[in-house]
Amino acid sequence: MKVLLAVLKQIHKPALCTGNPRCLSSGATSGLLPLRDEAPMVGSSPELVQKLGSQVEVRTDFITEAEEAAFLRELDPGLKKKRYEFDHWDDAIHGYRETERLRWGAVCEEILNRVRSTAFPECSQLLGPVHVIDLDKTGYIKPHIDSVKFCGSTIAGLSLLSDSIMRLVKEDTPSEWLDLLLSRRSLYILRDQARYKFTHEILKNEESVFNGQRVPRQRRISVICRNLPG
Ligand code: OGA
Ligand code: MN
Repeated sequence: MKVLLAVLKQIHKPALCTGNPRCLSSGATSGLLPLRDEAPMVGSSPELVQKLGSQVEVRTDFITEAEEAAFLRELDPGLKKKRYEFDHWDDAIHGYRETERLRWGAVCEEILNRVRSTAFPECSQLLGPVHVIDLDKTGYIKPHIDSVKFCGSTIAGLSLLSDSIMRLVKEDTPSEWLDLLLSRRSLYILRDQARYKFTHEILKNEESVFNGQRVPRQRRISVICRNLPG
């Protein structure tokens, strides 16, 4: 049942975003980072956005509406047989159901191969099954770091059905944080320090605000590829 929850190791108390009033967007550093001008990231300082920005990618519109529909056709029947789980206070995830899948239909397999070739080096050994999390509209993922025992240096996820905010907070320095706007049909990639030194979380609907702009949460399905520890 709890297929991959074993990979979600440490649960952290939500960190306060100290010094939040002036969110600095990557746009504010556009003189330094022309290529990342449009990166949907805001963080605690321009330095952090620049430093961590190289280890975090968000590719807007990575899949088309038709491709999103193909995932839904493949995943929804199985997901609908499960109930959303809300009541395990110690879980890293609240209001979710999940599955993992090794074999995919041709359309989804092709998209996943695009994700793999975008996110991972060719020599990278990938975790066989792809992890799927279906978050209810009221669901959210608490701050955690994926298990270093089971997962390698890179995490790549597609977001289906809803926009959401992923927040990264430095484990030993909670004043350092980065918010990512994960738009519907985008791909995010976390690498290296962003994956090992920062917790990540998906904000609940009530807290889902990006750079001062409200981002309503709907039901959200994520499709996550990981590599194996080196
Ligand atoms: C996880 C996780 C993020 C997402 O399953 O470890 O952080 O996009 N998921 O669902
Ligand atoms: Mn995770």
